[in-house]
Amino acid sequence: MKPFAWALAAGFAAAFALAGGAAAQQASAPIVIKFSHVVAKNTPKGEAAEYFRKLAEERTKGRVKVEVYPNSILYKDGEEMEMLQIGAVQMLAPSLAKFGPLGAKEFEVFDLPFLFDDYASLHKVTEGPVGQALFKKLEGKGITGLAYWDNGFKVMSANRPLRMPADFKGLKMRIQSSKVLDQQMRDLGAIPQVMAFSEVYQALQTGVVDGTENPPSNLEVQKYVVVSNHGYLGYAVIVNRKFWSGLPADVRGELESAMKDATRYANEVAKKENDDALEAVRKSGRSQVSVLSAEERAAWKKALLAVHKEQGARIGRDTVEAIYKATGFDPGKN
Ligand code: LMR
Repeated sequence: MKPFAWALAAGFAAAFALAGGAAAQQASAPIVIKFSHVVAKNTPKGEAAEYFRKLAEERTKGRVKVEVYPNSILYKDGEEMEMLQIGAVQMLAPSLAKFGPLGAKEFEVFDLPFLFDDYASLHKVTEGPVGQALFKKLEGKGITGLAYWDNGFKVMSANRPLRMPADFKGLKMRIQSSKVLDQQMRDLGAIPQVMAFSEVYQALQTGVVDGTENPPSNLEVQKYVVVSNHGYLGYAVIVNRKFWSGLPADVRGELESAMKDATRYANEVAKKENDDALEAVRKSGRSQVSVLSAEERAAWKKALLAVHKEQGARIGRDTVEAIYKATGFDPGKN
């Protein structure tokens, strides 16, 4: 055989081997899931995201690589939903208070004040048919809902003591992008300011806002903190619908089982993380922490009842009534 033919053959063999190798390498390139979120790693969501990453990579034996981007380093509030819809990122876990701008205002039902007494009443919704019905509202937006992850019950913080609704008068209070929270603050006499989470610390430091609300695990240091538990903050883990349905069935199966266990983990650590965070605030001595008395709590509830009536109509009576039924909440009685 002539040398060129040998070279050609050798070349083919090499190219073939390379192609085979490359194809094998190509075929074995891991499927990458970019998971972006806006909070720190050492928070309920931050730890659950890491736990999901570990399980997903283990159970798919490396066929999937999960890249977690915390602290808004990849996308911040107001950007991440759109990036999910165009497939620039594959997974998010936004707060349930941030679905309104996407056109899924029903999720703002979770923001209704004093709706959930505790995690047990909340789980009747997030682990029940109402939670699944809400996920259906995302399908038409190119999004698939996978799970609900807990964070916790919100406290209020500000640069002055907050005991009675009148104490909120004229305060600029940071909120998430929810119309329910907007009315909640207005009905307390405050001025609501929608702001990305990544901007809250600076805004509190510079006085752009006077205060905010969040579970203790998300709280920035402020002089006064009142344990009001006046509302709940939790998450929906969502994925790009086309990406998820396009996964090999066995891989998707492993990811679903990893998500199930990560959800159990998330809901196990949420309460403890918030209790520990509140204890750390108390111990820091940098904040005066108070707890609403029964009278003060009744005054807050009275001031915020209208939110249920007016926002309930906007969110959609069927969703609100379904949650009242599931939790036994009676706006007239409470
Ligand atoms: C907030 O914006 O305050 C929270 O939703 C942040 C988060 O994701 O917990």
